[in-house]
Amino acid sequence: MKTVLEPFRIKAIEPFRITSVEERTRILDAAHHNVFLVRAEDVMIDLLTDSGTGAMSAQQWSAMMTGDESYAGSRSFYDLEGVVHKLTGYRHVFPVHQGRAAERILFSSVLSPGQSVPNNAHFDTTRANIEFLGAAALDFVHPSARDLSADVPWKGDIDLDELSSWLEAQPPGSVPIGMLTITNNRTGGQPVSMQNLRAVSSLYRRHGIPFFLDAARFAENAWWIHRLDPEWHDKTLHDVARAMFGLADGCMISAKKDGLVNIGGLLCCNDDALAAKIRNLLILTEGFPTYGGLAGRDLAALAQGLREVLDYDYLHYREASAQYLADRLGAIGVPIVRPFALHAVYVDARAMLPHIPPEELPGQALVCELYRRGGIRAVEIGTLMFGRKDPVTGEPVVAEHDLVRLCLPRRVYTQSHVDWVVEAFAEMMRETEHARGYEILEEAPFLRAFTARLRPVSRQAAVAHR
Ligand code: F0G
Repeated sequence: MKTVLEPFRIKAIEPFRITSVEERTRILDAAHHNVFLVRAEDVMIDLLTDSGTGAMSAQQWSAMMTGDESYAGSRSFYDLEGVVHKLTGYRHVFPVHQGRAAERILFSSVLSPGQSVPNNAHFDTTRANIEFLGAAALDFVHPSARDLSADVPWKGDIDLDELSSWLEAQPPGSVPIGMLTITNNRTGGQPVSMQNLRAVSSLYRRHGIPFFLDAARFAENAWWIHRLDPEWHDKTLHDVARAMFGLADGCMISAKKDGLVNIGGLLCCNDDALAAKIRNLLILTEGFPTYGGLAGRDLAALAQGLREVLDYDYLHYREASAQYLADRLGAIGVPIVRPFALHAVYVDARAMLPHIPPEELPGQALVCELYRRGGIRAVEIGTLMFGRKDPVTGEPVVAEHDLVRLCLPRRVYTQSHVDWVVEAFAEMMRETEHARGYEILEEAPFLRAFTARLRPVSRQAAVAHR
Protein backbone atom coordinates (compact mmCIF):
# COMPACT_ATOMS: atom_id res chain seq x y z
CA MET A 1 0.00 0.00 0.00
CA LYS A 2 1.11 3.53 -0.79
CA THR A 3 -0.09 5.49 2.21
CA VAL A 4 2.54 6.19 4.84
CA LEU A 5 0.69 6.03 8.14
CA GLU A 6 1.28 8.18 11.18
CA PRO A 7 2.82 5.54 13.48
CA PHE A 8 0.72 6.73 16.45
CA ARG A 9 -2.82 7.32 17.66
CA ILE A 10 -3.99 10.57 19.24
CA LYS A 11 -4.59 10.21 22.96
CA ALA A 12 -4.98 13.83 24.08
CA ILE A 13 -6.20 16.72 21.98
CA GLU A 14 -5.90 20.48 22.16
CA PRO A 15 -9.01 22.16 20.73
CA PHE A 16 -8.63 25.43 18.84
CA ARG A 17 -11.28 28.00 18.01
CA ILE A 18 -12.47 28.17 14.43
CA THR A 19 -12.43 31.86 13.48
CA SER A 20 -13.87 33.71 10.47
CA VAL A 21 -12.04 35.74 7.82
CA GLU A 22 -13.69 38.91 9.19
CA GLU A 23 -12.54 38.17 12.71
CA ARG A 24 -8.99 37.42 11.57
CA THR A 25 -8.90 40.59 9.48
CA ARG A 26 -9.68 42.57 12.66
CA ILE A 27 -7.11 40.60 14.69
CA LEU A 28 -4.44 41.22 12.07
CA ASP A 29 -5.18 44.96 12.02
CA ALA A 30 -4.97 45.08 15.82
CA ALA A 31 -1.63 43.20 15.66
CA HIS A 32 -0.26 45.82 13.23
CA HIS A 33 0.04 43.17 10.50
CA ASN A 34 2.74 41.31 12.44
CA VAL A 35 1.81 37.70 13.26
CA PHE A 36 4.33 37.63 16.14
CA LEU A 37 1.92 40.06 17.83
CA VAL A 38 -1.12 37.78 17.32
CA ARG A 39 -2.15 35.68 20.32
CA ALA A 40 -1.66 31.94 19.80
CA GLU A 41 -5.31 31.32 20.73
CA ASP A 42 -6.29 33.34 17.65
CA VAL A 43 -4.28 31.02 15.39
CA MET A 44 -5.78 27.80 14.02
CA ILE A 45 -2.75 26.19 12.40
CA ASP A 46 0.53 27.40 13.86
CA LEU A 47 3.43 26.77 11.49
CA LEU A 48 5.63 29.51 12.97
CA THR A 49 8.29 27.08 14.18
CA ASP A 50 9.02 23.42 14.82
CA SER A 51 10.88 24.40 18.00
CA GLY A 52 9.30 23.30 21.26
CA THR A 53 5.93 22.89 19.51
CA GLY A 54 5.87 19.10 19.10
CA ALA A 55 3.55 16.65 20.85
CA MET A 56 5.07 14.33 23.43
CA SER A 57 4.28 10.63 23.49
CA ALA A 58 2.39 8.85 26.30
CA GLN A 59 5.76 7.35 27.26
CA GLN A 60 7.27 10.83 27.61
CA TRP A 61 4.36 12.06 29.73
CA SER A 62 4.66 9.03 31.96
CA ALA A 63 8.43 9.57 32.25
CA MET A 64 7.65 13.10 33.46
CA MET A 65 5.67 11.69 36.37
CA THR A 66 8.65 9.66 37.51
CA GLY A 67 11.28 12.37 36.91
CA ASP A 68 13.69 12.74 39.83
CA GLU A 69 13.69 16.35 41.08
CA SER A 70 16.79 16.02 43.27
CA TYR A 71 19.09 19.04 43.10
CA ALA A 72 22.23 16.94 42.79
CA GLY A 73 22.70 13.50 41.28
CA SER A 74 19.18 13.13 39.85
CA ARG A 75 18.42 9.65 38.51
CA SER A 76 16.79 11.35 35.50
CA PHE A 77 20.13 12.96 34.66
CA TYR A 78 22.01 9.65 34.71
CA ASP A 79 19.33 8.09 32.53
CA LEU A 80 19.62 10.99 30.06
CA GLU A 81 23.42 10.86 30.17
CA GLY A 82 23.32 7.16 29.30
CA VAL A 83 21.02 7.76 26.32
CA VAL A 84 23.18 10.65 25.04
CA HIS A 85 26.41 8.63 25.48
CA LYS A 86 24.93 5.85 23.40
CA LEU A 87 23.65 8.26 20.76
CA THR A 88 26.71 10.50 20.41
CA GLY A 89 29.65 8.75 22.04
CA TYR A 90 30.73 12.02 23.75
CA ARG A 91 32.28 11.74 27.20
CA HIS A 92 30.78 14.84 28.80
CA VAL A 93 27.06 15.55 28.66
CA PHE A 94 25.59 18.80 30.05
CA PRO A 95 21.88 19.56 30.04
CA VAL A 96 20.93 23.19 29.36
CA HIS A 97 17.57 24.92 29.11
CA GLN A 98 17.70 25.34 25.32
CA GLY A 99 20.08 25.60 22.37
CA ARG A 100 21.17 29.18 22.85
CA ALA A 101 22.27 28.48 26.43
CA ALA A 102 24.64 25.84 25.03
CA GLU A 103 25.87 28.40 22.50
CA ARG A 104 26.54 31.05 25.13
CA ILE A 105 28.37 28.64 27.43
CA LEU A 106 30.45 26.97 24.72
CA PHE A 107 31.45 30.22 23.01
CA SER A 108 32.21 31.98 26.31
CA SER A 109 34.52 29.05 27.12
CA VAL A 110 36.54 29.13 23.88
CA LEU A 111 36.18 32.49 22.09
CA SER A 112 38.03 35.78 22.45
CA PRO A 113 37.32 39.08 20.66
CA GLY A 114 38.74 39.21 17.14
CA GLN A 115 38.56 35.44 16.57
CA SER A 116 36.35 33.72 13.96
CA VAL A 117 34.00 30.73 13.81
CA PRO A 118 33.27 29.12 10.42
CA ASN A 119 30.04 27.16 9.75
CA ASN A 120 27.95 26.06 6.76
CA ALA A 121 25.52 28.76 7.98
CA HIS A 122 25.07 30.00 11.51
CA PHE A 123 21.56 30.05 12.92
CA ASP A 124 20.57 33.57 14.14
CA THR A 125 21.16 32.89 17.85
CA THR A 126 24.46 31.14 17.14
CA ARG A 127 25.68 34.12 15.15
CA ALA A 128 24.43 36.56 17.79
CA ASN A 129 26.20 34.68 20.60
CA ILE A 130 29.47 34.71 18.66
CA GLU A 131 29.19 38.39 17.74
CA PHE A 132 28.21 39.27 21.32
CA LEU A 133 31.70 38.09 22.33
CA GLY A 134 33.34 40.33 19.73
CA ALA A 135 34.15 37.42 17.39
CA ALA A 136 33.12 36.88 13.76
CA ALA A 137 30.59 34.24 12.58
CA LEU A 138 31.37 33.22 9.00
CA ASP A 139 29.09 31.28 6.65
CA PHE A 140 30.44 28.99 3.92
CA VAL A 141 27.17 28.22 2.12
CA HIS A 142 27.47 25.64 -0.65
CA PRO A 143 26.97 27.27 -4.09
CA SER A 144 24.15 24.81 -4.89
CA ALA A 145 22.04 26.36 -2.11
CA ARG A 146 21.90 29.72 -3.90
CA ASP A 147 19.50 28.35 -6.55
CA LEU A 148 16.30 27.92 -4.55
CA SER A 149 14.52 25.74 -7.09
CA ALA A 150 17.40 23.37 -7.98
CA ASP A 151 16.26 19.95 -6.79
CA VAL A 152 19.70 18.62 -5.87
CA PRO A 153 20.59 16.84 -2.62
CA TRP A 154 22.96 18.02 0.11
CA LYS A 155 22.41 21.75 -0.31
CA GLY A 156 23.26 21.98 3.39
CA ASP A 157 26.92 21.07 2.75
CA ILE A 158 29.66 23.51 3.63
CA ASP A 159 31.57 25.02 0.69
CA LEU A 160 34.77 23.02 1.27
CA ASP A 161 36.95 24.83 -1.28
CA GLU A 162 36.10 28.22 0.15
CA LEU A 163 36.52 27.00 3.73
CA SER A 164 39.82 25.36 2.92
CA SER A 165 41.37 28.41 1.26
CA TRP A 166 40.00 30.70 3.97
CA LEU A 167 41.52 28.50 6.71
CA GLU A 168 44.91 28.56 4.96
CA ALA A 169 44.88 32.36 5.18
CA GLN A 170 44.03 32.62 8.90
CA PRO A 171 46.72 33.48 11.44
CA PRO A 172 47.42 30.61 13.88
CA GLY A 173 45.12 30.59 16.91
CA SER A 174 42.50 32.82 15.33
CA VAL A 175 39.92 30.04 14.75
CA PRO A 176 39.39 28.34 18.13
CA ILE A 177 36.40 26.27 16.99
CA GLY A 178 34.86 25.13 13.70
CA MET A 179 31.20 24.26 13.24
CA LEU A 180 28.68 22.53 10.99
CA THR A 181 24.91 22.83 11.39
CA ILE A 182 22.88 19.67 10.69
CA THR A 183 20.42 20.19 9.08
CA ASN A 184 21.25 23.63 7.76
CA ASN A 185 18.28 25.72 8.92
CA ARG A 186 19.48 28.92 7.24
CA THR A 187 19.46 27.32 3.78
CA GLY A 188 15.95 25.90 4.08
CA GLY A 189 16.61 22.95 6.41
CA GLN A 190 18.86 21.25 3.86
CA PRO A 191 20.82 18.20 5.03
CA VAL A 192 24.61 17.78 5.08
CA SER A 193 26.06 14.68 3.39
CA MET A 194 28.25 12.18 5.21
CA GLN A 195 31.00 12.94 2.64
CA ASN A 196 30.90 16.60 3.61
CA LEU A 197 30.84 15.76 7.32
CA ARG A 198 33.93 13.58 6.84
CA ALA A 199 35.79 16.14 4.75
CA VAL A 200 35.01 19.00 7.14
CA SER A 201 36.10 16.86 10.07
CA SER A 202 39.47 16.06 8.52
CA LEU A 203 39.97 19.66 7.37
CA TYR A 204 39.36 21.05 10.86
CA ARG A 205 41.57 18.30 12.34
CA ARG A 206 44.37 19.14 9.90
CA HIS A 207 44.26 22.69 11.22
CA GLY A 208 44.02 21.53 14.84
CA ILE A 209 40.59 23.15 15.24
CA PRO A 210 38.03 21.48 17.54
CA PHE A 211 34.93 20.56 15.51
CA PHE A 212 31.44 21.08 16.97
CA LEU A 213 28.08 20.18 15.46
CA ASP A 214 24.99 22.32 15.87
CA ALA A 215 22.84 19.20 15.86
CA ALA A 216 19.34 20.57 16.57
CA ARG A 217 17.90 18.42 13.76
CA PHE A 218 20.35 15.51 13.86
CA ALA A 219 17.66 12.85 13.37
CA GLU A 220 16.34 14.54 10.23
CA ASN A 221 19.89 14.80 8.85
CA ALA A 222 20.46 11.12 9.67
CA TRP A 223 17.23 10.24 7.89
CA TRP A 224 18.34 11.84 4.61
CA ILE A 225 21.75 10.14 4.76
CA HIS A 226 20.02 6.81 5.35
CA ARG A 227 17.54 7.47 2.51
CA LEU A 228 19.83 8.99 -0.11
CA ASP A 229 23.33 7.63 0.47
CA PRO A 230 23.73 4.00 -0.69
CA GLU A 231 26.56 3.50 1.79
CA TRP A 232 24.11 4.00 4.67
CA HIS A 233 21.03 2.28 3.25
CA ASP A 234 21.53 -0.92 5.18
CA LYS A 235 22.68 0.68 8.40
CA THR A 236 20.32 1.66 11.21
CA LEU A 237 19.42 5.31 11.78
CA HIS A 238 21.21 5.00 15.09
CA ASP A 239 24.40 3.93 13.24
CA VAL A 240 24.12 6.95 10.94
CA ALA A 241 23.62 9.35 13.86
CA ARG A 242 26.48 7.83 15.80
CA ALA A 243 28.77 8.12 12.76
CA MET A 244 27.87 11.81 12.31
CA PHE A 245 28.55 12.62 15.95
CA GLY A 246 31.71 10.49 15.85
CA LEU A 247 33.27 12.81 13.27
CA ALA A 248 33.09 15.81 15.63
CA ASP A 249 34.58 16.64 19.03
CA GLY A 250 31.30 17.74 20.53
CA CYS A 251 27.86 19.16 19.84
CA MET A 252 25.20 21.61 20.85
CA ILE A 253 21.62 20.43 20.59
CA SER A 254 18.45 22.46 20.91
CA ALA A 255 16.33 19.54 22.11
CA LYS A 256 13.17 21.48 21.27
CA LYS A 257 13.46 19.99 17.79
CA ASP A 258 14.64 16.37 17.52
CA GLY A 259 14.68 15.89 21.30
CA LEU A 260 10.87 15.83 20.93
CA VAL A 261 10.44 18.04 23.98
CA ASN A 262 8.96 21.48 24.59
CA ILE A 263 12.05 22.75 26.40
CA GLY A 264 15.63 21.55 26.79
CA GLY A 265 19.05 21.39 25.24
CA LEU A 266 22.40 19.63 25.45
CA LEU A 267 26.06 20.56 25.29
CA CYS A 268 28.45 17.63 24.84
CA CYS A 269 32.20 17.31 24.35
CA ASN A 270 35.16 14.97 24.73
CA ASP A 271 37.81 17.39 25.97
CA ASP A 272 38.21 17.24 29.77
CA ALA A 273 39.69 20.75 30.12
CA LEU A 274 36.86 22.27 28.07
CA ALA A 275 34.33 20.26 30.09
CA ALA A 276 35.72 21.76 33.30
CA LYS A 277 35.22 25.30 31.93
CA ILE A 278 31.71 24.47 30.74
CA ARG A 279 30.82 22.96 34.12
CA ASN A 280 31.89 26.13 35.94
CA LEU A 281 29.91 28.42 33.66
CA LEU A 282 26.92 26.09 33.81
CA ILE A 283 26.87 26.27 37.60
CA LEU A 284 27.19 30.05 37.43
CA THR A 285 24.25 30.68 35.11
CA GLU A 286 22.17 27.56 34.38
CA GLY A 287 22.30 25.30 37.42
CA PHE A 288 24.05 22.29 38.89
CA PRO A 289 25.50 20.04 36.14
CA THR A 290 23.00 17.25 36.80
CA TYR A 291 20.05 19.45 35.86
CA GLY A 292 21.43 22.44 33.93
CA GLY A 293 18.39 24.69 34.28
CA LEU A 294 15.83 21.98 33.61
CA ALA A 295 13.44 20.16 35.94
CA GLY A 296 14.11 16.46 36.55
CA ARG A 297 10.91 15.70 34.63
CA ASP A 298 12.24 17.65 31.62
CA LEU A 299 15.39 15.51 31.65
CA ALA A 300 13.22 12.39 31.79
CA ALA A 301 11.03 13.51 28.87
CA LEU A 302 14.15 14.34 26.84
CA ALA A 303 15.77 10.95 27.49
CA GLN A 304 12.59 9.27 26.24
CA GLY A 305 12.31 11.68 23.26
CA LEU A 306 15.85 10.79 22.18
CA ARG A 307 14.92 7.11 22.39
CA GLU A 308 11.96 7.71 20.07
CA VAL A 309 13.24 10.13 17.45
CA LEU A 310 15.39 7.73 15.44
CA ASP A 311 12.48 5.35 14.91
CA TYR A 312 12.31 4.47 11.21
CA ASP A 313 8.52 4.67 11.01
CA TYR A 314 8.43 8.06 12.72
CA LEU A 315 10.99 9.59 10.33
CA HIS A 316 9.36 7.89 7.35
CA TYR A 317 6.04 9.48 8.31
CA ARG A 318 7.79 12.82 8.82
CA GLU A 319 9.18 12.71 5.30
CA ALA A 320 5.79 11.67 3.92
CA SER A 321 4.00 14.55 5.61
CA ALA A 322 6.52 17.16 4.40
CA GLN A 323 6.37 15.66 0.93
CA TYR A 324 2.56 15.76 0.97
CA LEU A 325 2.59 19.50 1.64
CA ALA A 326 5.41 20.17 -0.84
CA ASP A 327 3.82 18.12 -3.64
CA ARG A 328 0.41 19.70 -3.25
CA LEU A 329 1.79 23.21 -3.17
CA GLY A 330 3.96 22.38 -6.19
CA ALA A 331 0.95 20.98 -8.06
CA ILE A 332 -0.99 24.26 -7.77
CA GLY A 333 2.04 26.26 -8.93
CA VAL A 334 3.32 27.61 -5.61
CA PRO A 335 7.08 28.18 -6.01
CA ILE A 336 8.79 26.28 -3.19
CA VAL A 337 12.40 25.77 -2.22
CA ARG A 338 13.68 22.39 -3.43
CA PRO A 339 14.34 19.85 -2.13
CA PHE A 340 11.72 20.16 0.64
CA ALA A 341 13.02 19.83 4.18
CA LEU A 342 11.57 17.63 6.90
CA HIS A 343 11.01 20.39 9.40
CA ALA A 344 9.52 22.91 7.00
CA VAL A 345 8.45 23.74 3.48
CA TYR A 346 9.73 27.13 2.32
CA VAL A 347 7.79 29.22 -0.20
CA ASP A 348 9.57 31.69 -2.49
CA ALA A 349 7.28 34.68 -1.90
CA ARG A 350 9.18 36.93 -4.31
CA ALA A 351 8.47 34.45 -7.11
CA MET A 352 4.87 33.88 -6.00
CA LEU A 353 4.00 37.60 -5.76
CA PRO A 354 6.22 39.15 -8.45
CA HIS A 355 4.15 42.36 -8.57
CA ILE A 356 5.26 43.21 -5.01
CA PRO A 357 8.82 44.59 -5.03
CA PRO A 358 11.14 43.32 -2.26
CA GLU A 359 11.04 46.73 -0.53
CA GLU A 360 7.30 46.14 -0.03
CA LEU A 361 7.92 42.83 1.75
CA PRO A 362 6.32 40.11 -0.44
CA GLY A 363 7.06 37.50 2.26
CA GLN A 364 5.14 39.49 4.86
CA ALA A 365 2.32 40.00 2.33
CA LEU A 366 2.05 36.23 1.99
CA VAL A 367 2.24 35.64 5.76
CA CYS A 368 -0.59 38.14 6.35
CA GLU A 369 -2.77 36.66 3.60
CA LEU A 370 -2.27 33.15 4.96
CA TYR A 371 -3.38 34.28 8.38
CA ARG A 372 -6.36 36.24 7.05
CA ARG A 373 -7.61 33.51 4.75
CA GLY A 374 -6.84 30.44 6.81
CA GLY A 375 -5.89 31.37 10.38
CA ILE A 376 -2.49 29.91 9.49
CA ARG A 377 0.62 31.41 11.08
CA ALA A 378 3.84 31.16 9.09
CA VAL A 379 7.04 33.16 9.37
CA GLU A 380 8.67 35.58 6.95
CA ILE A 381 12.34 34.88 6.33
CA GLY A 382 13.26 37.73 4.07
CA THR A 383 13.46 41.50 3.94
CA LEU A 384 11.41 42.08 7.11
CA MET A 385 13.69 39.73 9.05
CA PHE A 386 17.07 40.47 7.46
CA GLY A 387 16.63 43.76 5.61
CA ARG A 388 17.57 47.10 7.12
CA LYS A 389 17.78 50.78 6.36
CA ASP A 390 21.04 52.01 4.91
CA PRO A 391 22.53 54.12 7.72
CA VAL A 392 23.77 56.78 5.27
CA THR A 393 21.04 57.08 2.63
CA GLY A 394 18.10 55.79 4.73
CA GLU A 395 17.10 53.63 1.72
CA PRO A 396 15.82 50.11 2.42
CA VAL A 397 18.37 47.31 1.90
CA VAL A 398 16.56 44.13 0.86
CA ALA A 399 17.38 40.51 1.78
CA GLU A 400 18.83 38.03 -0.72
CA HIS A 401 15.52 36.11 -0.81
CA ASP A 402 11.99 36.64 0.43
CA LEU A 403 10.89 33.28 1.79
CA VAL A 404 7.99 32.15 3.93
CA ARG A 405 8.65 29.15 6.17
CA LEU A 406 5.82 26.72 6.84
CA CYS A 407 7.17 24.71 9.76
CA LEU A 408 5.82 21.29 10.63
CA PRO A 409 5.58 20.80 14.40
CA ARG A 410 6.34 17.17 15.23
CA ARG A 411 3.35 14.79 15.60
CA VAL A 412 0.84 17.68 15.88
CA TYR A 413 -1.15 18.25 12.69
CA THR A 414 -3.06 15.76 10.54
CA GLN A 415 -3.55 15.52 6.79
CA SER A 416 -6.74 17.61 6.85
CA HIS A 417 -4.88 20.45 8.56
CA VAL A 418 -2.37 20.32 5.71
CA ASP A 419 -5.21 20.19 3.15
CA TRP A 420 -6.58 23.37 4.73
CA VAL A 421 -3.19 25.07 4.28
CA VAL A 422 -3.07 23.98 0.64
CA GLU A 423 -6.61 25.31 0.08
CA ALA A 424 -5.63 28.69 1.48
CA PHE A 425 -2.73 28.76 -0.99
CA ALA A 426 -5.02 27.64 -3.84
CA GLU A 427 -7.36 30.58 -3.14
CA MET A 428 -4.41 32.95 -3.14
CA MET A 429 -2.94 31.52 -6.34
CA ARG A 430 -6.22 32.32 -8.12
CA GLU A 431 -5.87 36.00 -7.27
CA THR A 432 -2.24 36.70 -6.46
CA GLU A 433 -2.50 40.15 -8.06
CA HIS A 434 -4.81 41.24 -5.20
CA ALA A 435 -2.09 40.74 -2.58
CA ARG A 436 -0.68 44.06 -1.42
CA GLY A 437 2.77 44.99 -0.22
CA TYR A 438 3.52 46.31 3.25
CA GLU A 439 5.42 49.19 4.72
CA ILE A 440 7.03 49.37 8.14
CA LEU A 441 5.66 52.08 10.43
CA GLU A 442 7.75 51.32 13.50
CA GLU A 443 10.81 49.12 13.93
CA ALA A 444 13.34 48.25 16.62
CA PRO A 445 17.05 48.91 15.93
CA PHE A 446 17.73 45.13 15.74
CA LEU A 447 15.68 41.93 15.29
CA ARG A 448 12.92 44.17 13.93
CA ALA A 449 10.72 41.32 12.62
CA PHE A 450 9.50 40.39 16.11
CA THR A 451 8.01 43.74 17.06
CA ALA A 452 7.67 45.82 13.87
CA ARG A 453 4.36 47.56 13.19
CA LEU A 454 3.30 47.51 9.55
CA ARG A 455 0.49 48.60 7.26
CA PRO A 456 -0.52 47.61 3.74
CA VAL A 457 0.80 49.91 1.06
CA SER A 458 -2.16 51.82 -0.39
CA ARG A 459 -2.89 50.86 -3.96
CA GLN A 460 -2.36 54.40 -5.33
CA ALA A 461 0.96 54.68 -3.50
CA ALA A 462 2.02 51.28 -4.81
CA VAL A 463 1.22 52.23 -8.42
CA ALA A 464 2.91 55.66 -8.09
CA HIS A 465 5.97 53.97 -6.66
CA ARG A 466 6.45 51.71 -9.69
N1 F0G B 1 20.52 26.04 16.14
C1 F0G B 1 19.60 25.84 15.17
C2 F0G B 1 20.01 25.18 13.89
C3 F0G B 1 18.27 26.27 15.37
O1 F0G B 1 17.37 26.07 14.40
C4 F0G B 1 17.93 26.88 16.61
C5 F0G B 1 16.57 27.33 16.85
C6 F0G B 1 18.93 27.05 17.57
C7 F0G B 1 20.22 26.61 17.30
C8 F0G B 1 18.67 27.72 18.89
O2 F0G B 1 17.99 26.85 19.75
O3 F0G B 1 15.81 28.02 20.16
O4 F0G B 1 16.57 26.11 21.59
O5 F0G B 1 17.69 28.32 21.75
N2 F0G B 1 15.69 27.42 15.94
C9 F0G B 1 14.28 27.80 16.10
C10 F0G B 1 13.62 27.94 14.75
C11 F0G B 1 14.03 28.94 17.03
O6 F0G B 1 12.47 28.40 14.72
O7 F0G B 1 14.22 27.55 13.74
P1 F0G B 1 16.97 27.37 20.86
